[in-house]
Amino acid sequence: MELVTARLRLDALRPDDAPLLFAYRADAAVNRYQGWRPITLVEVTHFIERQLTVEFGTPGSWRQFAIRPRDGTGLIGDLGLHFVDPDTVELGITLALAQQSRGFAGEAMRAALDLVFGTLGRHRAYAAVDPRNVACVRLLQGLGLRQEALFREGWRDGAGFADEAIYALLAREWRAMATGAD
Ligand SMILES: CC(C)(COP(=O)(O)OP(=O)(O)OC[C@H]1O[C@@H](n2cnc3c(N)ncnc32)[C@H](O)[C@@H]1OP(=O)(O)O)[C@@H](O)C(=O)NCCC(=O)NCCS
Repeated sequence: MELVTARLRLDALRPDDAPLLFAYRADAAVNRYQGWRPITLVEVTHFIERQLTVEFGTPGSWRQFAIRPRDGTGLIGDLGLHFVDPDTVELGITLALAQQSRGFAGEAMRAALDLVFGTLGRHRAYAAVDPRNVACVRLLQGLGLRQEALFREGWRDGAGFADEAIYALLAREWRAMATGAD
């Protein structure tokens, strides 16, 4: 499966993406608010290989899209879909530090939400975010997701327990935004 936007191409992660994926996923400035902090390149290679063995959309599974420039070269980030149940998808996104604050995340997430609510026909999408992660909170709010929950000390950030907010959106809300309806 492939998603193409004005500047980006989202497609399957390949084993040869491992070094670039490892470089930004292991970067402490990038993974500060994330649960997965790979220690070795082998770990990342296994992560990519494992994904390729699971059918897209399998309940309980994650599928990570590669985010590339539109010409399909290189890797600037990744976007994950977690198929929580037949109605619900969780999203997560990570960009290499040098690629942040250029609007790429909004562009990629819009394409992913179109896929989730359009082709995949899901009812609800959500993302879990540490409220200190201002860039991600702004990103989610900008896409129209609203905060539904705050789990106090709901995850471990490496140093200790930290809060976790849930931002969510329904299919009909996404469609209403697309058509400009209330
Ligand atoms: C969260 C992340 C994906 C956002 O990516 P991005 O490409 O920088 O986001 P965009 O450029 O599309 O900007 C989205 C919004 O965030 C704001 N933003 C971006 N970087 C910001 C920063 N460092 N501080 C404050 N706001 C920021 C933008 O101004 C924009 O808000 P606006 O629409 O109100 O103008 C990126 O910062 C990242 O990869 N962080 C590390 C991984 C991570 O924490 N992922 C989130 C886990 S759910």
